[in-house]
Amino acid sequence: MTSVRRALIAPSILTADFGRLAEQVRAAEEGGCDLFHLDVMDGHFVPQLSFGPSVVGAVRAATTLPLEVHMMVERPHEHFESFAREGAQRLVFHYEAAGDPAEHLELAHRLGCEAGIAINPETPVEAIVPWLAALDEVVVMLIKPGRGGQEMMPQHLEKVRDLRARVGGLGREFPIEVDGGVKSHNATTCVEAGATILVAGSAVYNERETPQQALAALRSALGD
Ligand code: DX5
Ligand code: ZN
Repeated sequence: MTSVRRALIAPSILTADFGRLAEQVRAAEEGGCDLFHLDVMDGHFVPQLSFGPSVVGAVRAATTLPLEVHMMVERPHEHFESFAREGAQRLVFHYEAAGDPAEHLELAHRLGCEAGIAINPETPVEAIVPWLAALDEVVVMLIKPGRGGQEMMPQHLEKVRDLRARVGGLGREFPIEVDGGVKSHNATTCVEAGATILVAGSAVYNERETPQQALAALRSALGD
């Protein structure tokens, strides 16, 4: 089997049982996940609504692992401060929603957070190249954002390969995250393309298995 570098696994709580959120978060932490990915939707940038800063605070209270907030919202900068206050370490905004990415980056850094940029399936890598050196992460969407449980569109892994080649020149570890449809059967392909963080929503929170079992299956698929 091809050996791949160890990737981080970031469960998305979107399909978790919110009635026992703290327990679900702790179960994933026990299962050996590395951070949490919190999907915020505003009903405008994407048609769906999910949750806001108070849920981020509730997750913060349940785990000491890093939290990143994936903001699928319009005018993301208006919400940075609330999410930072609730304990988010990394603020991820969409290129398609941010008029001026530089302004967003600076604000996230001023608030003491890392800054990540997410690109939708139709957005080319070239769009974000000017900000790569200042960014802490790029999130490549492998689905149309809006809901969990969709099939990955693997053709967009080409963008991960392209990005990996471009960030090689930065002279530092550069996190590239893939979001959407990551499962045991395609996790290795993502890492081989150059992804270092895998978001796993329905792969971790589903009705078939516990988060611990699901994470063990993902780790074993990755050969860890
Ligand atoms: C979708 C979100 C994803 C999603 C991942 O808009 O950004 O993070 O919840 O869920 P799965 O892993 O089920 O595709
Ligand atoms: Zn997400």
